[in-house]
Amino acid sequence: METKYEVINQLSQKAYSKTSLSKDEIIELLSCPEEYTHLIFDVADKLRKEEVGDEVHLRGLIEFSNICKRNCEYCGLRRDNQNLLRYRLEVDEIIATAKNAESLGYRSVVMQSGEDGFYTAEKIATVVDGIKNSTDLAVTLSCGEFSKQDYKMMKNAGADRYLLRFETSNKELYQALHPDSDYENRIQCLHNLKELDYQVGSGFMVGLPGETVEILADNLLLLKELDVDMAGIGPFIPNPDTKLANEKGGLLIDSLKAVAMARLILRNAHIPATTAMGSLDPKGREKALNSGANVVMPNVSPMKFRELYALYPNKICITDDPGHCRNCITGKIHALGRSVAKDHGHSLKR
Ligand code: 5AD
Ligand code: SF4
Ligand code: FES
Repeated sequence: METKYEVINQLSQKAYSKTSLSKDEIIELLSCPEEYTHLIFDVADKLRKEEVGDEVHLRGLIEFSNICKRNCEYCGLRRDNQNLLRYRLEVDEIIATAKNAESLGYRSVVMQSGEDGFYTAEKIATVVDGIKNSTDLAVTLSCGEFSKQDYKMMKNAGADRYLLRFETSNKELYQALHPDSDYENRIQCLHNLKELDYQVGSGFMVGLPGETVEILADNLLLLKELDVDMAGIGPFIPNPDTKLANEKGGLLIDSLKAVAMARLILRNAHIPATTAMGSLDPKGREKALNSGANVVMPNVSPMKFRELYALYPNKICITDDPGHCRNCITGKIHALGRSVAKDHGHSLKR
């Protein structure tokens, strides 16, 4: 009879050696007792080094509007949350924020917002065009669901990448958490983005109410099936301004296991150490960087808006300005013996 240690060790080695894991094997690793997780984290870290190197890519996050027409049950920006002061940056303010990010040394920015009807595809295209014409930044959009035509307009304006998490691969759970949205449409959006030749990022939350380890394994398999260029994974953190306020949140250890498994399954994808991980534990992002992650997305939004982009409570960097975050994260990366990448950090899959 093999011990648990031996099972985990063998499966970790198998995953590392590029042999595809079955769903049951993925579940076994995701269920690994905490005392043996280092076996998984170590092979994920080794594979990260071989596949994507020691450089960490920074993407400056511009949270340009917290106005949202959707009602995702977990999110503080949901339209029914009356407890939140809403804001949106003007077109010129977004472009100025991007320029500031470039002057701080960023090579890439992510424009993120709620689904704010004011920011139509045309307006977003105008902003992208403005950034592309005045900087050498790679531009990622993370503004939710649009038609294929709309995505095309934004791509034509110069957008390089698009982030759209599927949040969970389980259709029933997706519908329960997104009462006014459609799982099939979300997946269709991801296919449309791929067809339009965006570098596509997707991902999910860990520890959503009703989630099982089987669902987590399916989330990882869906990332593989979509062949994403980037995979964003973070713990669900209950927001007091939502109906899920009293639910149990996702655990850091479970999120780290999911990140490590994403590295082992997706090989050379970009994987961020997410802000949500840093918000659960002061060392959360460092732990993720040591378990397969190779990207960090520090906030470059103007200070006065930071606390209003309240997806979940206790978000880090609320009181820190963009220059401070840039120095802070560089220090953390150097302390891990890693370096900050100087290139645009495009997908390694093409
Ligand atoms: N906890 C953790 N992550 C959240 N997000 C939204 N609300 C929460 C929450 N309460 C994540 C979603 C979304 C991303 C922008 O933020 O995964 O895609
Ligand atoms: Fe809006 Fe995105 Fe929050 Fe859903 S997760 S309510 S789409 S900001
Ligand atoms: Fe913002 Fe450390 S990254 S304070």
